[in-house]
Amino acid sequence: MMNKWKLLPLALALAVAAPAQADALDDRVAASQAAIQKFASSLQGDLQAAMQEGGPIQAIEVCQQRAPEIASDISSETGWTVGRTSLKLRNPDNAPDEWERAVLKDFDAQRAAGVPAAELSRHEVVEEGDDTVFRFMRAIPTAGLCLTCHGSELGGDIKHALERLYPDDQATGYSEGDVRGAFTIIQRM
Ligand code: HEC
Repeated sequence: MMNKWKLLPLALALAVAAPAQADALDDRVAASQAAIQKFASSLQGDLQAAMQEGGPIQAIEVCQQRAPEIASDISSETGWTVGRTSLKLRNPDNAPDEWERAVLKDFDAQRAAGVPAAELSRHEVVEEGDDTVFRFMRAIPTAGLCLTCHGSELGGDIKHALERLYPDDQATGYSEGDVRGAFTIIQRM
């Protein structure tokens, strides 16, 4: 017969492991939030400076060059994959994968139900092939500043500059408060 006392250490180990795992997950969420904060504030800083110094046409170049640079800097610092994505893309390189697409749709649905875009985020541990990965997304709200290049009525010069760089641009027609897209992070576990 199985001695139930032999199982006691195992039961204790499991009881201790469960909260430790929850803590580890909380840590990942917090670290992801911090990385995104850094991404958002560097990009916003560069964007605002470029708008003030050279106007929106110059700022387009900042978005085109700095956004991927900042993303890859933070990716190499952290060892994660960090980026931006959207359901309506300007740069096709930012296309969402299946998990991201579903989350973006859910963000839009929650926004339509009245939840402010700034409050929308999601994390999940998912199996991808042989890998277990931690995934995190945080919605990017459309601010007034963004409408110059993502709104419904773009200035003629801006329209032309964007058309030249992004012939398949879909990232216009937004209003303030809309979910413009999301920051996205993938961490291998
Ligand atoms: C001066 C023009 C300009 C302004 C202002 C601007 N953007 Fe963009 N945005 C761009 C360009 C250009 C890209 C494409 C960047 C690239 O090639 O990766 C882009 C891409 C994006 C993307 C990546 C997804 C995609 O469609 O490719 C997001 C998300 C985004 N912008 C959000 C914002 C938000 C939020 C604001 C306001 C805080 C903002 N943008 C302001 C020009 C602008």
